[in-house]
Amino acid sequence: MTGVNQSQSVIPTVTQRVLLIIGGGIAAYKSLDLIRRLRERGATVRVVLTRAAQEFVTPLAAGALSNERVFTDLFDLDDEREIGHIRLARDTDLIIVAPATADLLAKMATGQANDLATAVLLATDKPVLAAPAMNPRMWSHPATRRNVRQLEADGIHFIGPNVGEMAERGEAGVGRMAEALEIAQAAAHVLGGPQSAPAGPLSGRHVVITSGPTHEPIDPVRYIANRSSGKQGHAIAAAAAAAGARVTLVSGPVTLADPPGVAVIKVETAAEMLAAVQTALPADIAIFAAAVADWRVTTSANQKIKKTKGSDVPTLTLAENPDILMSVAKRGPRRPALVIGFAAETEAVVPHAQKKRKEKSADWIVANDVSPASDTFGGDWNTVHLVTAEGVTSWPPQSKDDVARRLVEQAGAWLAAHQTEI
Ligand SMILES: Cc1cc2nc3c(=O)[nH]c(=O)nc-3n(C[C@H](O)[C@H](O)[C@H](O)COP(=O)(O)O)c2cc1C
Repeated sequence: MTGVNQSQSVIPTVTQRVLLIIGGGIAAYKSLDLIRRLRERGATVRVVLTRAAQEFVTPLAAGALSNERVFTDLFDLDDEREIGHIRLARDTDLIIVAPATADLLAKMATGQANDLATAVLLATDKPVLAAPAMNPRMWSHPATRRNVRQLEADGIHFIGPNVGEMAERGEAGVGRMAEALEIAQAAAHVLGGPQSAPAGPLSGRHVVITSGPTHEPIDPVRYIANRSSGKQGHAIAAAAAAAGARVTLVSGPVTLADPPGVAVIKVETAAEMLAAVQTALPADIAIFAAAVADWRVTTSANQKIKKTKGSDVPTLTLAENPDILMSVAKRGPRRPALVIGFAAETEAVVPHAQKKRKEKSADWIVANDVSPASDTFGGDWNTVHLVTAEGVTSWPPQSKDDVARRLVEQAGAWLAAHQTEI
């Protein structure tokens, strides 16, 4: 997706005019908060509600929060005389579509204009930021995938969707609308102009990166985790974005800020990470730096497991998690041209990495020593060996940022030499 997330540590201002198009999804209520967040940052916010959106939020609420008239109807004569859909489309600095329903994305991708929202979107020459929200099956449906790819090619910016619980009972996956603050930050980033897409050796390339640990639930309060901080994966995402790539970062739970200019999908479990990676593809390069848990608890408890005095301690039965690296590296059609895995080892680092590269059909493995003495997990330095079909190159100890830059540089050079296109 066109990279839009921005460092969480900076709350940027949005002093320009924003036209917020609210689509007909459950997440429409979050867009009311978005109006507030944008105005707090100095933006003037006008709102268009689709007909379906009015089933979820009222023009009255949107008007009260925006302190502006709310627009709902393409054929409202007053509007056409006073302002009209063409002026709505042009008298703004940014259009945000939130929630961007599957329906709105489809209409945008095919250039339909049969209501006010879609007519404005077709008539505009301003940047458009879409915050999709829908059921995970709708999001992963081939039609939606096609529409999103088309819209990305048309220059539409995306924020989210995130992974999480859906409004529908028992449903979870990729499809939750990004939070209001994340959308406000993304808006500031889009309005920030050319720096959101620096030119570089990876311009026009899509890079998918995983980072951080996964959390595998035991019950609602406990989980299996590992010591990965996400520092290396996040550094690679930042380096790839700085090299001009469109970057999708699928991140497990970390305490790091989102790298600038990167679309971040936040997940918890290995299964969610796999689903997010699959929906993010196709890509030119996939880099799997996350420390994905090898096992999950077969059936996590719905309620907190109680400690009862004198009773037996619970037994956890584990099941193997999906192998994300292997499932992407062994994809037939639409396999990324360059698939890079990470191997965190505590002994026989290079031989284990060589075996892993072959078994999983990865092109390169970045092997690192994560034994307690190495201080790799959570630290700022890394000592890695790059294992390829041609051999092994051991890099000197260096910062994770430097490892990231060098890896991205080499991946870019490899791609250029192989002249691949997705
Ligand atoms: C209760 C309910 C919740 C819905 N939630 C969503 C949603 O989150 N995302 C989505 O794409 N469509 C959702 N829909 C379907 C849309 O409302 C429907 O496709 C509508 O035509 C969208 O119109 P719009 O894109 O013009 O706003 C929902 C429908 C209902 C009845």
